[in-house]
Amino acid sequence: MEIKTAIGDITGSKAGAILVTHFEGVKSPEGDAAAADKALGGAISNLIKQGDIKGKLNEISVLHSLGKLPAGRVVVVGLGKKKELTVNKVRGAVAETCRYLRGKAVTSLASVALGAGVNGIKSDEAVQAITEGALLGLYTFRRYITKKEDNFGEIKELTIYGKEKTSLEKAIARGKIPAEAANWARDMVNEPSNFMTPSDMASAARQLAKKYGLKVEVFEKEKIKEMGMGGLLGVSQGSQQPPRFIVLSYKGRAADGIDIALVGKGITFDSGGISIKPSEHMADMKGDMAGGASVMGAIMAIAQLKPGINVTALIPATENLPSGTAMKPGDIITAMNGKTIEVLNTDAEGRLILADALSYANKLGAKAIIDVATLTGACQIALGNICSGAFTNNQPLLDKVIAAGKEVGEPAWQMPMLDEYKELIKSDVADIKNVGNRYGGAITAAKFLEEFVDKTPWVHLDIAGTADTDKEKGYLVKGATGVPVRTMVEFVLSQAKK
Ligand code: BES
Ligand code: MN
Ligand code: ZN
Repeated sequence: MEIKTAIGDITGSKAGAILVTHFEGVKSPEGDAAAADKALGGAISNLIKQGDIKGKLNEISVLHSLGKLPAGRVVVVGLGKKKELTVNKVRGAVAETCRYLRGKAVTSLASVALGAGVNGIKSDEAVQAITEGALLGLYTFRRYITKKEDNFGEIKELTIYGKEKTSLEKAIARGKIPAEAANWARDMVNEPSNFMTPSDMASAARQLAKKYGLKVEVFEKEKIKEMGMGGLLGVSQGSQQPPRFIVLSYKGRAADGIDIALVGKGITFDSGGISIKPSEHMADMKGDMAGGASVMGAIMAIAQLKPGINVTALIPATENLPSGTAMKPGDIITAMNGKTIEVLNTDAEGRLILADALSYANKLGAKAIIDVATLTGACQIALGNICSGAFTNNQPLLDKVIAAGKEVGEPAWQMPMLDEYKELIKSDVADIKNVGNRYGGAITAAKFLEEFVDKTPWVHLDIAGTADTDKEKGYLVKGATGVPVRTMVEFVLSQAKK
């Protein structure tokens, strides 16, 4: 979809549909809705009076202009109560409206900065949110659907009206770059494991590097062995697909050194290994590299937004499969930092590959580390599909990450990190074991990871519940969500500002 700017009055637009808003409890159309109402001979006022248009959040009312306006339709988008409006609601409402209109054969849209001026929402924030809502909400993954002739519409163009071209374009870019990066990550996660192997992830990283001027390094099996990455090596040993360790670096300031390391779990398929999973939802485990995809998406956006800060993304990538060569319950492995791990359950594999990646981030001297992983079913049980689980050894750092998530509509909720939980992963035969008991599983996993970051300020985001969804809602569509790409972008930009 192309996003354009226009200066002037939206009632002059020739688009298939123009978007105007209405708020709950308001008696007559306001602003651009009033202008459209006048052109339509009072049709909107009438519908409000009769109670058809209530202004409830995400309410969509389509009026055909029948030649009274150059645009084909006027679409009144409900934004709920004025007092309760947030940027996030604008983003969601635009997404829902775009999807609805795509189903109605509309191919071009026009909008103003919907919601701007209400509840302190600034014009550029609204334009950014509209851009994000449209791009994220219209996302589809139809690459493998061969039947092309069905009437699956496409909105090819969105024109945003405003007062000043440069500021409009800036706000659009600020929305577009992270949203397209999130969609790029969604694609990667939605790809089945036969098309997204560790080597495929590495190729994708090389392409990103080439396109956006990032530095890329890919470690193959021999190098992984040489570096002592026993976790990644152990998990990969049951698979025919060789592991990869991917490093993508963005340099935003003159001096060397990593300001922020973004570490993402890259299990391209998680069968559980010898501790094999039940078959029922196993197919979902093609998305067990969502953390890896998200850090790649984040650095892709960062490379385009160019903040003055150094960021490196680290992705350990492998399959987790059972075979005659697979790791077995009870095996002991040594992570890159020298700690030994008793592997009591081969399905707790994410923490094993992250142990190496976190050790390596530390070895590289990263000043702060954020890791992202579809790590535990327990986190999904605890927080459902709304909030990612958030864990830290450094409260101020986590506060900033959570604030960034709130800003972009990707909520995260902090979980405890009391040392009492560490007791649960004490091993009798090694330094640590890779599973605790049935309870508090998301926390024991985080306590495990903490052992590999030393004292470096670190945040762990468990996205097991938020990486994909089976419901269309707001700017989320079925399948991968792209969470938390935009959180990381927002956080990195906020850190560079200072
Ligand atoms: N990839 C899974 C976690 C997961 C579960 C992600 C559901 C998304 C949806 C992870 O590798 C795993 O298998 N974790 C185990 C840990 C257990 C063996 C301690 C789990 O959560 O059951
Ligand atoms: Mn697993
Ligand atoms: Zn896993």
